Amino acid sequence: MYLDSVRDVSATPARLSATLIAMHILVTASSKHGSTNEVADAIARRLEDAGHTADRIAPEDVTSVDTYDAVICGSAVYILQWMDGAHDFMDRFSAQLENKPVWAFSVGMNGVPKHAPQDPTRIGPLLTRVSAIDLHSFAGRYTPSLLSLRERSVARLAGVVEGDFRNWDEINEWTDSILKDLEQR
Ligand SMILES: Cc1cc2nc3c(=O)[nH]c(=O)nc-3n(C[C@H](O)[C@H](O)[C@H](O)COP(=O)(O)O)c2cc1C
Repeated sequence: MYLDSVRDVSATPARLSATLIAMHILVTASSKHGSTNEVADAIARRLEDAGHTADRIAPEDVTSVDTYDAVICGSAVYILQWMDGAHDFMDRFSAQLENKPVWAFSVGMNGVPKHAPQDPTRIGPLLTRVSAIDLHSFAGRYTPSLLSLRERSVARLAGVVEGDFRNWDEINEWTDSILKDLEQR
């Protein structure tokens, strides 16, 4: 059907043709309870499956972005904010990132039924000086049994809904849109 032909969310992305150059891409993300890290891992894996080199490094451990052709930075959202590591990364490297293609993603409860909707443009990199080509909000995972009592109380106040809402097709699709953009550069 029409949708299937325009949304290529196949198990593996199209590999580079022989004439395209493999790129070196940084995939960095801040995560407290692991779900955002797993999203970043899936993005990096898909880039690698397409023939590029993807470095998965925590934002705090990145010492330079000079060697990268592109950067993808993500963060879990806590109380409407990106986590400090991803936020500081964007600030630390804002000058260098100005000259590179940058994509950003948030993982939170936006888009999850029953969670109060929030404006994704008011969180994350748009509050820093970095202008990302795209900021995408993915639904995340909330497992109360993994959290402290204090976190559970805050989550309840924030209206966070229990469950794993990550949509791996959507994550693959977003990564494929990045691949498409990079291969046209
Ligand atoms: C204390 C707490 C506060 C949260 N606040 C928000 C929020 O303001 N907006 C949102 O979209 N999601 C919020 N969430 C949901 C998290 O972003 C979601 O569980 C995410 O997948 C966590 O990522 P992590 O596993 O990488 O830490 C909150 C979760 C907790 C536990």
